[in-house]
This record gives sequence, C-alpha cells and structure tokens, in this order.
Amino acid sequence: MVGTSVVADAKSSFGKGQLAATLTVSAKENVAEGVVSLTLTHPSGARLPDWTPGSHIDLVLPEGTTRQYSLCGDRWDAYTYRIAVLREPAGRWGSPRSSEAESGGGSAYVHDRLRPGDRVGVGGPRNHFPLVPSEKYLFIAGGIGITPLLPMVRQAELLGADWQLLYGGRTRSSMAFREELTAAYGERVHVVPQDELGLLDLAAWLGTPRPDTRVYCCGPTPLLAAVEAACAAWPPYALRVERFTAGAQAAPVRDTPFEVELRRTGHTVTVTPDVSVLEAVRRAGADVLSSCEQGTCGTCLTPVLEGQPDHRDSVLADHERAANDCMFPCVSRSCGDRLVLDL
Ligand code: FES
Repeated sequence: MVGTSVVADAKSSFGKGQLAATLTVSAKENVAEGVVSLTLTHPSGARLPDWTPGSHIDLVLPEGTTRQYSLCGDRWDAYTYRIAVLREPAGRWGSPRSSEAESGGGSAYVHDRLRPGDRVGVGGPRNHFPLVPSEKYLFIAGGIGITPLLPMVRQAELLGADWQLLYGGRTRSSMAFREELTAAYGERVHVVPQDELGLLDLAAWLGTPRPDTRVYCCGPTPLLAAVEAACAAWPPYALRVERFTAGAQAAPVRDTPFEVELRRTGHTVTVTPDVSVLEAVRRAGADVLSSCEQGTCGTCLTPVLEGQPDHRDSVLADHERAANDCMFPCVSRSCGDRLVLDL
C-alpha cells in the first residue's frame, strides 16, 4: 500500500458506505478462553455496508465507551458483521483496534453484560490495513491479532495466492478460531502455543527477503517489534503491521508554535505546543472525525496539501510517511513553520 491509497481509503471512510447506525447483537459465542465473538445485524434485516479484509468498525457500547474491532467474519455476507473481543480486565487495550487507554470497561462490558438482542452503535467500516494484491503472503498473528488476518487468509485462498499463516498464542485454548483455521486450511496454518512450543521462530519462518512476498502481522507490541526487526532487510513495502496500541514516539520535531492553514475554509490557526492539531483545527470550525485520539485507529486521517508533517501515528508505514500527503492530526504535528490541510 502506498500513501495515496491511504488517502483514498480515508476519503471513502467519510462518504458513502459508512454506518453511524444501531445494530443488533444477534449472536454471542465463546470462541476461546477469554474471547467472545459477536454477530451484528441491522434491526430491520437490511444489508450492511461492504468491507474488505483488514477493516474495522467502531463499537459504541450502551455505557458510552467506543472501541474499534477488526471485522473477522465473511466479507461476502452482506447482512452480518462479526467481531471478536478479548477480555482485558486489567484495563489494558482489549483487541486489535481497541482505542482507549481503558479502565477495563469496554471488553468487560461486552463479556459480562452484552446479550443477544441488545443494540449497539456501530461506525465504519474503515480500512487502514488493506490486503494488497500479491502472489505470495506470509501472515503472522499473535493472540487476538488473528482477527484482521482471518478474512485476509480467506481472501488469499479465494484468489489462489500462495500463503502461510504463523499463529502464536499463550495456550491452544486461548487462540481464537484455531480449529476453524486448521480445519479449513490444514498445513498452511502453523499453530504455535507458547506453553508447548515456545516463542515464534520468526527468523526461520521468514527466511531470506523475497521481493514477491507480502508480510502481514497483527499482535502485541513485542511481536510487532520482533517482526519488524526480522524484516529489516526486506523491501520497505513488504511488511504491513497493525498495532493494538500506540507505538513509542520520539519527542516532537519542534517545541515552538506553527501555523496550519485550512485551505477549504481559508482559516489559518496557530498550533501551540500544548494543543493538538486536531484540537486547533476544530476550534477553527473544522469538522474532523476522531475516535482513539492516540494515532492508532486512523479515523482522523486528513490530506496534507503543503508542508511536512511530523508523523507521530502508529498507522502509516515509513514509505507512506515519506509521501507527506496525509497525517493524523490527533497526534501528528509539523516539522516546519506551516502546514496546509485539505480542510
Ligand atoms: S483519532 Fe484515531 S488516529 Fe486520530
């Protein structure tokens, strides 16, 4: 994926095919130790907006919290969405795309209180982790990070691609969809429970860099860091990761104010070190959607017309950052005195 395709995704995410709707929990099922899946349908039985592998939705719970969860069902089923939610009682991030430094309320609510027949607010779907066409894929999942990869392997199989999945988890019983995957795809799926087989042997599994192969990884931060290190010699476009939580960021490039011009409205605002670009442009009247406000969900993606953003998100790959054509104003700032945004 290149930067321009990210912008295209973002533009589509604010337009047609997006929900800001109430859906019904039509089924709730235990799919692994500490993991439940939810099936969501429209109360009227209407079809739902189309989505592609790697997409996520916003789940707005009756208690008022909003979380992002990857869609892990059948993308060709136009009437249902499926997500899987890991219980995180200790107040940690609950799943891929889970968006807040939470108090444990989001995933605990889903596990303990949400019932079939309940209604939940849903936004999206959006996709900042799209599956790029390729003849060969290596998929690497850690724990609940299997969710965005599940529809990807189905797609790769449908398209006749050469693919393999390396799936690690604490124990077999904690690994959601393990049996479904091994039953459907047999030896293409390599299941590695840590208590039986230890950590994933990434160096052996990835082997030497292959320019014809795309690597997709989702899982906890240490796994992503290990995969990034193991792919250091691969072409820059080869690896695509999706994070549970915001990655570590260096200090901002500048600690002095800068200007942001909102080209469409003609307003210019000064962004001081103590406010985000998102906050500053909203004060100027810009209507920018946001969710996580931590640079992980991709909701606030904004096209950049001029200037060089100080990218501080956990969504864009390095080559996408270098394109300088979009930014996430909830966390990203400016390298120079001025940015011009398509707002
Ligand atoms: S609101 Fe989530 S990336 Fe900005």
